[in-house]
Amino acid sequence: MSSWQHIPILAQTIKELLITDREGLYIDGTLGLGGHSKILLSSLGTKAKIFGFDKDEKAITMARENVADSRLETFNLSYTECARVLREKDIQGVNGILFDFGLSSYQLDDASRGFSFNKQGPLDMRFDTAQTLTAQEIVNTWPADKIEEILLNYGEEKFASKIAQAIALAAREAPLETTWQLAKIIERVCPRTSKTHPATRTFQALRIAVNDEFGAVKKAPKLLKEVLLPLGRAAFLTFHSLEDRIIKVALKDLCQDKDTWRLVNKKVIEPSWQEIKQNPRARSAKLRIIERLK
Ligand SMILES: C[S@@+](CC[C@H](N)C(=O)[O-])C[C@H]1O[C@@H](n2cnc3c(N)ncnc32)[C@H](O)[C@@H]1O
Repeated sequence: MSSWQHIPILAQTIKELLITDREGLYIDGTLGLGGHSKILLSSLGTKAKIFGFDKDEKAITMARENVADSRLETFNLSYTECARVLREKDIQGVNGILFDFGLSSYQLDDASRGFSFNKQGPLDMRFDTAQTLTAQEIVNTWPADKIEEILLNYGEEKFASKIAQAIALAAREAPLETTWQLAKIIERVCPRTSKTHPATRTFQALRIAVNDEFGAVKKAPKLLKEVLLPLGRAAFLTFHSLEDRIIKVALKDLCQDKDTWRLVNKKVIEPSWQEIKQNPRARSAKLRIIERLK
């Protein structure tokens, strides 16, 4: 077992609500360290299978080690490729699919990935390290108005203009290379006024932009028509209001066709205070589940 940790969120609830066939096929669209897959497999039968996708090659290696189960087949691909993978395998569809969006604790804790303003590291932030776009390229080469746009759209940062100007000005003097350099620039223009570090929203926005996360999140509900079997279910775990809004609206749209789709939980499911106490990362999680009726 690797030393990196990630506690799967709402894992028991997801297991209870996602599994409709103990011997079925499932997709874990965001495998991470395999926490959810491991728990799902503990309730699945010997003929069941999980196809696990992750853009992060290192996560896939660790998930295989952590789960150590021949019923898990992994793909170092975006979940947006899952319909193609099923077609290539001549599989009609799956009984369930899980999306646990965002990044894992392991990625946040690994300084070399550059996701955290708390750790000195390169301004990288790529899930897929084979991709060329990095956070460093954005802060050093994108114009201030484009940086402001992502801070607004992906971070809901109210000081977007001030921060974007400060980044562009600093980058003109000397290229920004590290997480701490960037965090210091933000601290200078937005002094800390609450418990939340002033760089929090900028780091979130850059990460979403680098990985085109919203592009993929928007595609996720669209995949369901192609990959879910009748009576199959899809679970979506989101971590901020922007992501949750995309999913909420998309599932509502699907449910316009009442004969084909129904929401399993009318009210969004959130972790209990006990879970949040044990795992503070769970505090902003929201779970939505939809079922295909025919
Ligand atoms: C919150 S973590 C998942 C944790 C996992 N459920 C567990 O219990 O260990 C999200 C994972 O999704 C991956 N990811 C993000 N966008 C992706 C995409 N479009 N396709 C596949 N994986 C993606 C990230 O690399 C990260 O490992």
